[in-house]
Amino acid sequence: MSYQQEVDKRRTFAIISHPDAGKTTITEKVLLFGKALQKAGTVKGRGSNQHAKSDWMEMEKERGISVTTSVMQFPYGECLVNLLDTPGHEDFSEDTYRTLTAVDSCLMVIDAAKGVEDRTRKLMEVTRLRDTPIITFMNKLDRDIRDPMELLDEVETELNIACAPVTWPIGCGKEFKGVYHIHRDETILYQSGHGHTIQDVRIVKGLDNPELDAAVGGVLAQQLRDELELVVGASHEFELEPFLAGELTPVFFGTALGNFGVDHMLDGLTAWAPKPQGRATSERDVDASEEKFSGFVFKIQANMDPKHRDRIAFCRIVSGKYEKGMKMHQPRIGKDVRISDAVTFMAGDRDVLDEAYAGDIIGLHNHGSIQIGDTFTAGETFRFTGIPNFAPELFRRIRLRDPLKQKQLLKGLVQLSEEGAVQVFRPLINNDLIVGAVGVLQFDVVVARLKSEYNVDAIYEAVNVATARWVDCKDAKKLDEFKRKAEANLALDGGDNLTYIAPTRVNLSLAEERYPDVTFRATREH
Ligand code: G4P
Repeated sequence: MSYQQEVDKRRTFAIISHPDAGKTTITEKVLLFGKALQKAGTVKGRGSNQHAKSDWMEMEKERGISVTTSVMQFPYGECLVNLLDTPGHEDFSEDTYRTLTAVDSCLMVIDAAKGVEDRTRKLMEVTRLRDTPIITFMNKLDRDIRDPMELLDEVETELNIACAPVTWPIGCGKEFKGVYHIHRDETILYQSGHGHTIQDVRIVKGLDNPELDAAVGGVLAQQLRDELELVVGASHEFELEPFLAGELTPVFFGTALGNFGVDHMLDGLTAWAPKPQGRATSERDVDASEEKFSGFVFKIQANMDPKHRDRIAFCRIVSGKYEKGMKMHQPRIGKDVRISDAVTFMAGDRDVLDEAYAGDIIGLHNHGSIQIGDTFTAGETFRFTGIPNFAPELFRRIRLRDPLKQKQLLKGLVQLSEEGAVQVFRPLINNDLIVGAVGVLQFDVVVARLKSEYNVDAIYEAVNVATARWVDCKDAKKLDEFKRKAEANLALDGGDNLTYIAPTRVNLSLAEERYPDVTFRATREH
């Protein structure tokens, strides 16, 4: 197979959803279709790892489990699909956001009984940074759900994306009969109790087919016909261009638990989602068709498997091919490194990879020389852009039990912030150290790692900070004035960038109004 064919068959995506919408269940079924698992149901050890524990070994174990599913590669039809896990629940972190910079499309899973929820809103905002194409799956049709038309409305108005239903549900809950596939003009009938297998489905061709009435009952069949007339008039038709621009999402209905509809979604994803896309760099745009290797690091995970106590840097290949033993250039430090042991995590085991192509993710062993946002090339000097830090939403003051270790504490925090585990802010007016995170588990991770890696015993205290923004001003005089007047709210982050730390959202809005020449940014590029 030629280089270009290898690239063209790849699809790299992540799932965005609110906790409990069904991301894990969908992942299991997707892998079942990918034949990666014989029987679905082994992605997450449920029950044992539901709650965040501060015990470090426990956390390692939990994270060990989640890491085996960090990147899942499987064949589907003619395609090779990479599914990147986005940490959710308690392990929600900046990694979740940054993973979205490493994919070319996203699957949005919505609990159809609940509709658009908070976390989905936030994650959608992040996908907007790159106008990532979105495919939507309305899940849990085996339960009583909300009116499907109302759900589409909610997605359109709350997430500002047009909806193009590809399938339409027939009934829900106990009365869930299946879906009508608008593009294929056929009804696919649902059977309950077959969630662990790939089902042989019964299909009824055509909407006016009397077999449909016999299969789902006359009332539901008529209701379907009436609804479809409405739907076709009131919603959008699927078109590739607005989908690729992130303006329109194809919508599928089904139940992940019942393993119904997931294959329709995968068919749509492999047919429409973009093949590996290029990325912008500081010097030029890199296209996936270029055969010279390039890639960027979007996530670093530490000490994740008790058997392998190392850090892994997750690198998205943007162009070219990785081969075992190849040399890569790391422009930030101006050095070449030979990579003989990149890893992937298929079906629970670490495999040594022999080759990988644009669109794939490889795991690089990292002994401290790789940072989030690092670029690797075949010798060229450039830096991939668009791998941001995100303004934290949770803040704590961190304090030492033993005040003599202030230096180690700062060193540890700066290194952990370079790795992307957490962010650290030092106010201009005092010697406090404020830790910021987007997910609450990160606080425990930091204290545990400070202890085990830097031998520092630290504790947290509450701090009156609600949000942070990176600030900048083109006019040096105005910046100086701002610095003087707003000093009490200014801090430096781990990379010495000026940050406005606001005690309340209202305070932030007022500051933005008061200093119109200053830009307040919720993301900062590496
Ligand atoms: P998440 O990763 O997005 O957090 O969601 P997850 O897949 O873990 O699903 C959350 C809960 O919703 C699970 O139930 C799961 O079984 C259930 N679920 C997922 N898809 C469907 C569906 O299509 N229909 C129905 N009825 N339920 C669904 P749980 O009780 O929390 O876990 P478990 O004890 O059942 O495993």
